[in-house]
This record gives sequence, structure tokens and C-alpha cells, in this order.
Amino acid sequence: MPDGVTEPIVEVHLTPPELRAALRRDVAAGLSSSPKELPPKYFYDARGCDLFDDITRLAEYYPTRCERSILTERAAEIARLSAADTLVELGSGTSEKTRLLLDALAAEGRLRRIVAFDVSEPTLRSAADTLAHAYPQAEVRAVVGDFEHHLGAIPRGGRRLVAFLGGTIGNLAPKQRALFLSEVASLMAPGDGLLLGTDLVKDVARLEAAYDDAAGVTAEFNRNVLHVVNRELGADFVPERFTHVARFDPDEEWIEMWLRSSKAQEVTVADLGMTVGYGRGEAMRTEISAKFRRSGVEAELGDADLALARWWTDRDGDFAVSLSFKE
Ligand code: SAH
Ligand code: TRP
Repeated sequence: MPDGVTEPIVEVHLTPPELRAALRRDVAAGLSSSPKELPPKYFYDARGCDLFDDITRLAEYYPTRCERSILTERAAEIARLSAADTLVELGSGTSEKTRLLLDALAAEGRLRRIVAFDVSEPTLRSAADTLAHAYPQAEVRAVVGDFEHHLGAIPRGGRRLVAFLGGTIGNLAPKQRALFLSEVASLMAPGDGLLLGTDLVKDVARLEAAYDDAAGVTAEFNRNVLHVVNRELGADFVPERFTHVARFDPDEEWIEMWLRSSKAQEVTVADLGMTVGYGRGEAMRTEISAKFRRSGVEAELGDADLALARWWTDRDGDFAVSLSFKE
């Protein structure tokens, strides 16, 4: 590390063996249920993170660009309103857009600490190194964990702004979301802020295209979970025998991602001693991505005792960033 740059502190609350044990449990349960299911946090191994990075640059995938445009326009205001000295980012990934917030906090001369929290250890370590170099005045902490289980590992103290960007909150089902928001709120002190990125309900064709791009990157990302299960649990999925499907459910107002078996086939998961049969055309759900309206976001925040203070959208109203405060 160059002079004046402190190594990031990395705390691992989810070691590779623990992640593997969780994968075993989730795959055993998911492949025994009807319809079959595979849980989404396992998309994000090193290859999955790279594929997601490619998704963020696709013409069809508007959320990243919209959120970036909102943050570019509003970062200074967010820094001022939050008066934070600590930025905590959940599901931080590469923390690329977050730099806009960090630059604004640094410009106010307040930035003291950065906490990045993600399930993907390699991505988190490299993001933390980049942040430590870019913000030598701040202590950088990387927490490897599952934000549905390990939020308690987030350090206390300071005036905090918690950022949860990318619309990742939409990947939680409504009940999990309520639990998650109340846990986030419980680790915030009065005056701490939550900056939340939410994708908004819009034209179905655009929504579906964002999750089913012409180049097939999202399809490859979706199938990546099969590569993960093959590698970690000795399964013999042939990923090419599963087709990517993305559909908007207008009642739930969420995108559903499925993998559809293109033929009748059997798959063995050696480490679980499990053989599962797929019928031709049988679909297995891998992910939801909920789309929001202002009223719903405000109500869900309110249920967690978070008061909505600001609601910003991009020019076309495709994506929203909201700032709420713990009362
Ligand atoms: N915030 C970034 C990345 C979004 S992709 C952006 O806006 O572009 C979703 C991120 O959440 C990935 O980095 C993934 O590894 C992480 N993630 C998904 N499920 C998680 C979980 N249960 N716990 C912690 N991180 C998780
Ligand atoms: N948080 C992102 C979203 O819901 C994650 C994502 C983008 C995703 N494309 C995907 C998840 C495709 C699964 C499959 O927009």
C-alpha cells in the first residue's frame, strides 16, 4: 500500500464452507419443492459478478444508468441532508456508483469510515482495495456476509448513511423485505439515513427486455447458478439444456426469472445424494425482481419506522432513489 493508505479491514462472517453449507440446505429444499426453485444469492460467484457487471452495461438494462444519473445529480444534496461521516453499503458489488456519494461526502470534509457489505468475497476485496486507495482519509471495512443474516456485524458509531442500491431490494419477496427493512432500521440510530434504489413499474416490454437481453448475457447469468451448483455440490446440470425465461407478473408487479428444461432429463446432485427429474418444459424459479411505486415504498419504509424524506427519479421516471431517516 502506498504511504497514507491503510489496508482495508476484512471481516468474514460467511466463510466459503459456511456458504457451501447454506447452498446445500437451500438446494436440497429448492429442488424438492414444487415448482422447483434455486435461491438467487448463489448467482454471485466471481463469474456471476463479472456477468452482472456486463448486464449493467447492456442497452436494455436501464436501472444502472438511471440510478447513476440520479446520484450524479443529487449526491451533493444527499451528502448535505444525511450529514453522514460513515457510508455503509449493502450488496455493494463493485461500489462503482457509490463513488459519487463518497466524493460528495469527502467534499464536505466529513467522510471517516466506509463499510462495504456483500456475499461475494472476491468482488468485495477488490472493491475495498480500490476504495482504500481512493479515500485514504477514511477507514475502509469490508464485511463478507448475507444481508439476511449478518447485519449485526455492521460496526456501530458515527453518523451513518446506509445505501442499498441497484434495486436489489426487489430481489427479496415482500415478507423477507419487511423483515430486512426492520433489521436495517434496528441497526440505525435516530438521524441515520437509508438511501434506497428501487426500480419502478413501467411498460412491460421494456421491463422484460431488461431481463432478457438480445445478446443473451442475462440468460448466461441466470444459468450461472447451475455452474455454481455443479462446482460446489458435484451436480451434473448441463446448463445448455435450460432456457432462460423472464416474465413480468402484473399482479405481483415483479419480474420472475425461470430456467426451463428444454427436454425431459434427470440431474444428480452428488453431494446431496439426490437425483431430480425434470419434465420437458418444466420451469424452475431462480429470481424475482420487484418493481415499485412511490406509495408502496413509502408504506414499506414507514412499517419499518423509516420516514421518507426525499424521492428522486431520473428524467423519464424509470427508477427512484429515496432517502429516509430513522425517527
Ligand atoms: N450495488 C451494486 C450491485 C448490485 S447486484 C449495483 O447497484 O450495481 C447485487 C449485489 O448484492 C451483488 O454484489 C451480490 O453479491 C449482492 N448480494 C446478493 N444477495 C446478497 C445477500 N443475501 N447478502 C449480501 N449480498 C448479497
Ligand atoms: N438487482 C438486479 C435486478 O433485479 C439483479 C439482476 C439483474 C438479476 N438482472 C438479473 C438477477 C437477472 C437475476 C437475473 O435488476
